[in-house]
Amino acid sequence: MAVVPYKDQNEGKKAQVATMFNNISKRYDLLNHVLSMGIDIIWRKKAVKLLKADQPKLILDIATGTGDFAIEALALNPDKVIGVDISEGMLAEGRKKLKKRKLEDKIELQLGDSEKLLFEENKFDAVIVSFGVRNFENLEKGLADMNRVLKPGAKTVIIEFSKPKRFPMKQLYNFYFKHILPKIGKIVSKDNSAYTYLPESVQAFPDGEDFLQVLRKVGFKNTQCKPLTFGIASIYIGEK
Ligand SMILES: C[S@@+](CC[C@H](N)C(=O)[O-])C[C@H]1O[C@@H](n2cnc3c(N)ncnc32)[C@H](O)[C@@H]1O
Repeated sequence: MAVVPYKDQNEGKKAQVATMFNNISKRYDLLNHVLSMGIDIIWRKKAVKLLKADQPKLILDIATGTGDFAIEALALNPDKVIGVDISEGMLAEGRKKLKKRKLEDKIELQLGDSEKLLFEENKFDAVIVSFGVRNFENLEKGLADMNRVLKPGAKTVIIEFSKPKRFPMKQLYNFYFKHILPKIGKIVSKDNSAYTYLPESVQAFPDGEDFLQVLRKVGFKNTQCKPLTFGIASIYIGEK
């Protein structure tokens, strides 16, 4: 059974995820930085640095949301970053941010499904995703399509939540994620389910070696996992 945001509804995971992010889009950035105490910003910076030697010129940011990872990727001095997302609400917030920061010529945000990308194969110098893959309806299909649009030898860099394994971080994290975060999330986002879905979807999602196995299954080579901050999140790297 897939973990979905709204358990009492009949829609599939993809439609529910899009609705959920549309609902919380206006509060998403604020909640992200408050609930992670700003660590998410450091994680994205660290992930982008891993692509420095590759000097990618055309970058695809999957599940771009409000565009934070796409903006961070500008540190690599690419010609262009294209961000795709299934939530028009998140993209609308992203577009406002790009306009304010005068970044519209560098970053293009498009409505699109990561499991059915409308790009030809071997197009991108890098494909990046932060906190997106956990939300895919079909993980293997999404990762396989990311592989398809990458140039041979080019890399994907993925950030996703993972589960700390050791005492006392495991216990602290579980308490925070299950009891504190859903309460703050509910009050600020005004969505009853979004921040319950977050810990539940992390719990059900493959992390560490399990995730690397899925990456290899869909065709990625030289896969690596770099745990961040006691294993609360991890960066995964794979090469086409
Ligand atoms: C937690 S947000 C992450 C946004 C951004 N990458 C960040 O780091 O803040 C997850 C995003 O994934 C998007 N998403 C989920 N499934 C998707 C899919 N199949 N294709 C494209 N976007 C998807 C959601 O709409 C949402 O905006």
